[in-house]
Amino acid sequence: MLKLFGALVVFGLALACITSWVLDSYDTAWHPKRSIRHPAVSDGGESKESSPPFPGDELNNIFWFVQVSDIHISRFHDPRRIPDFEKFCTHTMEVIKPALVLATGDLTDAKTESKVGSLQHEVEWQAYHNVLKTSRVMERTKWIDIRGNHDAFNIISLDSVNNYYRKYSANQKVGSFHYVHTTPFGNYSFVCVDATLTPGPKRPYNFFGILSQTQMDLLNTFRAESLTTNQSIWFGHYTTSTIVSPSPGVRDIMRSAVAYLCGHLHTLGGLMPVLHSRHPLGTLELELGDWMDNRRYRVLAFDHDLLSFSDLQFEQWPAVLITNPKDAQYLHPGVEPLSRIRRSTHIRILAFSEAAITAVHVSIDGDSLGMGRSAGGPLYVLQWEPSLYLTGLHTIRVKVEDSAGRSVVREQHFTLEDSLTPTFGFAQSFILLTDHYILGRALFILTALLNVGGLIAFRFLRVPPSRALFSQICISLHLISKMDIFYYPLLLFNLCTALGPWFIGELIDGHSGACFAFGVFIDGHFLEGSLTYVVGVFQLLFFNIPLTSYLCWSLHHRWHGNSLRSHFVRPGRRGWTVAVHLLMLLMLTWQAHSCYFLLQTYGLTAFFLSPVRTWALGLSVVLVYRAWTGPVPLFHDNSKSDSSS
Ligand SMILES: *[C@@H]1O[C@H](CO)[C@@H](O)[C@H](O)[C@H]1NC(C)=O
Ligand SMILES: *[C@@H]1O[C@H](CO)[C@@H](O)[C@H](O)[C@H]1NC(C)=O
Repeated sequence: MLKLFGALVVFGLALACITSWVLDSYDTAWHPKRSIRHPAVSDGGESKESSPPFPGDELNNIFWFVQVSDIHISRFHDPRRIPDFEKFCTHTMEVIKPALVLATGDLTDAKTESKVGSLQHEVEWQAYHNVLKTSRVMERTKWIDIRGNHDAFNIISLDSVNNYYRKYSANQKVGSFHYVHTTPFGNYSFVCVDATLTPGPKRPYNFFGILSQTQMDLLNTFRAESLTTNQSIWFGHYTTSTIVSPSPGVRDIMRSAVAYLCGHLHTLGGLMPVLHSRHPLGTLELELGDWMDNRRYRVLAFDHDLLSFSDLQFEQWPAVLITNPKDAQYLHPGVEPLSRIRRSTHIRILAFSEAAITAVHVSIDGDSLGMGRSAGGPLYVLQWEPSLYLTGLHTIRVKVEDSAGRSVVREQHFTLEDSLTPTFGFAQSFILLTDHYILGRALFILTALLNVGGLIAFRFLRVPPSRALFSQICISLHLISKMDIFYYPLLLFNLCTALGPWFIGELIDGHSGACFAFGVFIDGHFLEGSLTYVVGVFQLLFFNIPLTSYLCWSLHHRWHGNSLRSHFVRPGRRGWTVAVHLLMLLMLTWQAHSCYFLLQTYGLTAFFLSPVRTWALGLSVVLVYRAWTGPVPLFHDNSKSDSSS
């Protein structure tokens, strides 16, 4: 699934490179080296911003919390995953002592042993539940766990007995919600965006989430409520780029948040170890790598209403987070009181380790400023003079040592100019800010139209005879589209890929449904198409179009008087001929693999009732056979041929 998504991303990146300079709306996000100026900072905001409290040398106006994502408790794979997670809940939580923990989905793996099929395993949920219980983490902190797409595989409705989340999670809240974290110095909103599908089909067709208009309305009320609190964090499983939502869209609805925290993409199999970007309206989108294989987690802090965070690796100590001055990359001048950094008296650093912290060295732009001193808890402070750094971008470097002899260096840029914010890389922004289902839909419609349109056009067009390569291709397309035995099956097959059902079967155990390019029907429910378009583009590019091309090529040979045997022995062209046949064999194998995948994911009924997979495989074998053994095609001029049949 991630490979497929990765392939789409590479494909899309190429396309996006061409179109990016046309699209003004993405302008700010898509130019990595340019700094942006934020219109949100006005004089009115400035006066509120300059108000106290200012960061000083006391452990006050600060709290920190943790995010962990894509845990994927599995009964089959990686036996270390559960004990490591248990150690995280006991040991790591004991060291960090977060105010709350957000577990952003995919709590369990919910796959078959072969990793292809999907269903909810009660034992995986029990294992998750046991870790929460035996670690007593819920007594130590507020544990907020939400569902991911894996936790929604194969579940017909929220009150289905298979929805083990209701029974075994800490939170047990389905749907979006608004949680307010209350402290003596302010209130902080945590809004969950639950875009998981109901009903939840088996994999892969729940890779994208959906928010209905009703769910969007609910989120809008949360947004309005959250305006009275000091700051808001939104979080969910899916990246905003993998959520299908009605206009004005999910990014617009979270515009008052300082950041949206999510998971789901697992660093794209190592391709993108850091996936952070900023929405056009200023909200940061911070994807977190998975616990499953990479054992990632994140510590975040609100210090005097300024958000900072650090993406960390399990068991790597010391864990360091510089909360003042915060990282220039992640400023949100629209909602954060950034001028407090200018008015602060101390540099503030959170340092956690399982051994005692022995030293916190601080330097700015290469000049040592001295050692931070403990201000209580994990907070270390060091007096500084912000007026020395009023313009430009500066580098703060912190080296933390513990009594076990370990040390960690953390370096980040900071700026005291509100308007100077470095932007994010093109690939990160493309992956997080593009609505991939819209891109997939556009590509699919384009390829499907070309494919069907080409066949129909050549049936009714006339060709000027010529020896040029282009017209040879035209002739072969004429040959194929004017022979009923090829034209009608191919037309029907391509139309079915575009409009018809791909397969009919149990999309959820015990519940039939049908899958189309434009969406999935299950038991009377309709789920709008998203990944289906992407799969459709691959189907067209790697099977439908190559099949048509191969048949054209074969018929062209037949038309020249060659047979299967004779065209192999043409002097000088043998290598080419063999390559074409091998390529076709590869395409057939790919299609056979798709059929096998269908059998594994959706079962026997789907396998047998699949026009675009199994039937198409049979059809292609018959057509290839006919192309080489059928009657020699006769090429006639359009005026003489009658296109009726
Ligand atoms: C939180 O908001 C309240 C009310 O606006 C304000 O008095 C308080 O100082 C804020 N807290 C922080 C840490 O800025
Ligand atoms: C936080 O919320 C409570 C009620 O929910 C309210 O009484 C209190 O004044 C709020 N605190 C701040 C700093 O806004």
